[in-house]
Amino acid sequence: MSMADTGPILAVDRLTVRFGGLLAVDGVSFAVRPGEIVGVIGPNGAGKTTTFNAIAGHVRPTGGTVRLKGQDVTGWPPERMAAAGLARTFQLVRLFRSLSVVENVMVAAATRHPSTHRARAKALEVLERLGLAGRAEDPVGRLTLADQKKVEIARALGTEPDVLLLDEMMSGLTADETEEMLALVRDVNVRQHVTLVVVEHVMPIIHSLCERVLVFDYGRLIAEGPPAAVMSNPEVIAAYIGRRRSTGGSSTTMPMERPV
Ligand SMILES: Nc1ncnc2c1ncn2[C@@H]1O[C@H](COP(=O)(O)OP(=O)(O)O)[C@@H](O)[C@H]1O
Ligand SMILES: [Mg+2]
Repeated sequence: MSMADTGPILAVDRLTVRFGGLLAVDGVSFAVRPGEIVGVIGPNGAGKTTTFNAIAGHVRPTGGTVRLKGQDVTGWPPERMAAAGLARTFQLVRLFRSLSVVENVMVAAATRHPSTHRARAKALEVLERLGLAGRAEDPVGRLTLADQKKVEIARALGTEPDVLLLDEMMSGLTADETEEMLALVRDVNVRQHVTLVVVEHVMPIIHSLCERVLVFDYGRLIAEGPPAAVMSNPEVIAAYIGRRRSTGGSSTTMPMERPV
């Protein structure tokens, strides 16, 4: 897809999600260009996952619009979003644990390939690409967390998305697993031409993957720009002051707890 003659592949305008008295997402607007990897950061409870849920159809927006490839897709259910070209992964892996790896991916591939034979071929192709072909027949519940996260990505890729929302894919992984996951995510973006929006807490990962990052705080988008510029933004610094954990965590990890 040429970048010059197309608009944003994903455009979110004044997106709002209210849960009772809580404004979990408060008038968030941003646009993503085809081919980009956009980072999303912010403390726990800032509204990152709810924004993904509202875009992907898992939560109905209270207000605002979502446009995918120019089409208004606001409020579409997940299956319809997948068919339109948007997929997401879940922060906590959500797979059918008793099904095999390939069966989990086939469920997703059925979005485009109603025939079981074709869905299986597509699922195996995706697994091959992610280095998981050897585990195709294993029950998902027997895989390591890192491999389960890869299956989660495989499941999303099985729907052949143009845009993929990745919610904390690296959390809980070792340094080596993180490196491997980074290479995989880059491959998905560069070679498989999937536009990515990634929620991550670990700043070096954001720096290494993204040219642009969105900062959420209390449901609002408080800053947007290159990672280095955003992290020196006074409003972002203020939002994070006092939020570092007294024990655990590191200076490279965005603090996840709000101050008490
Ligand atoms: N289904 C829900 N019902 C009620 N409140 C929710 C629901 N999902 C999320 N929330 C609340 O919305 C806020 C934003 O949560 P979330 O989007 O998960 O934040 P983040 O992903 O940035 O950590 C939090 O206060 C959370 O408790
Ligand atoms: Mg979250």
